[in-house]
Amino acid sequence: MYRAKISGTGSYLPEKILTNFDLEKLVETNNQWIVERTGIRERHIAAPDQATSDMALIASQNALAMAGLAPADIDLIIVATTSPDYPMPSTAAVLQDKLGARSVCSFDLSAACSGFVYGTSIANQFIRTGVYKNILIVGAETLSRIINWKDRETCILFGDGAGAIILSRASDQDQSTILSEHLYADGALNHLLDIPGGGSRLPFSQKVLDENLQLVRMKGREIFKNAVRTLASCCGEALETNKLTVDEIDWVVPHQANARILEALAKLIHLPMSKMIMNVDKTANTSAATIPIALDQAVRDGRIQRGQLVMLAAFGAGLTSGSILLKF
Ligand SMILES: CC(C)(COP(=O)(O)OP(=O)(O)OC[C@H]1O[C@@H](n2cnc3c(N)ncnc32)[C@H](O)[C@@H]1OP(=O)(O)O)[C@@H](O)C(=O)NCCC(=O)NCCS
Repeated sequence: MYRAKISGTGSYLPEKILTNFDLEKLVETNNQWIVERTGIRERHIAAPDQATSDMALIASQNALAMAGLAPADIDLIIVATTSPDYPMPSTAAVLQDKLGARSVCSFDLSAACSGFVYGTSIANQFIRTGVYKNILIVGAETLSRIINWKDRETCILFGDGAGAIILSRASDQDQSTILSEHLYADGALNHLLDIPGGGSRLPFSQKVLDENLQLVRMKGREIFKNAVRTLASCCGEALETNKLTVDEIDWVVPHQANARILEALAKLIHLPMSKMIMNVDKTANTSAATIPIALDQAVRDGRIQRGQLVMLAAFGAGLTSGSILLKF
């Protein structure tokens, strides 16, 4: 078996920033309420001509540059997204073409906010078994196109952006490796966070559009409780599997849904907030993109260093969840 290492990270956030004060003009809300309940102050919004693959492309190019690789070196492309360019073809296939990559296996992965952790885990299997050497995993979302801008309970929470990593076969000298992966889904709780219309269950119709069923719906309180519980359980399981204590972990890079969820998580697992990578104040929840964006920012500003122990922890619709413990 081979080992996998993250050889490059990249991210992209669209230029336009929508602040809480801007939102005050759209729905009945206020900056103080949003900051107190979520920690979010602003979010990035894609330009009208930008779609998910456009942001994924820039994040991928940045990750490739850090890894010192060319598009032709990529053996597999996975794009985790809930807001693809089209229902068909996959955003991964669109990205493969835009990048100028070879004709390689390219697919989208639907696991909502846990998609990036799912994708990294899948990629790790291909590296370990020696099938592929360099894999591009992207989390990219244009959530601004699938949220209801009239629903103040959801529209304040989300933003657009993309993050990417290159997972490569590690050499014998590399200390980097993925130590464990734990992935879950609890479909019995699907109704807490969903987009009911626009699929085969309820195809597009005037009724779907009139009732905004093609947009995100959420039961915020229940999601909050489940997020804290499952994130803590995934982190605890990763520590137990690796016989590590929380003190031995250098960084936790969690799904950036809400600062209060992350504070509650830190408390439950006894992690000092200084070890939690958080950017939700500036990016809001970009679903599958939050973890690779936060990871890239922390790698580029020097917080995350080679050899450190890093925990990725995700939670999202489905209700999917998961953790990856890795030595960076
Ligand atoms: C959405 C969330 C911020 C709401 O916070 P909360 O403390 O649970 O608030 P509630 O839903 O109980 O609402 C409290 C009040 O604020 C109001 N309210 C809701 N959204 C508001 C907004 N944007 N601005 C002002 N008031 C708002 C509600 O209508 C309610 O008013 P009422 O008491 O008169 O009925 C919180 O539940 C949350 O963060 N949940 C997790 C969401 C998430 O992360 N989803 C993605 C997971 S991947």
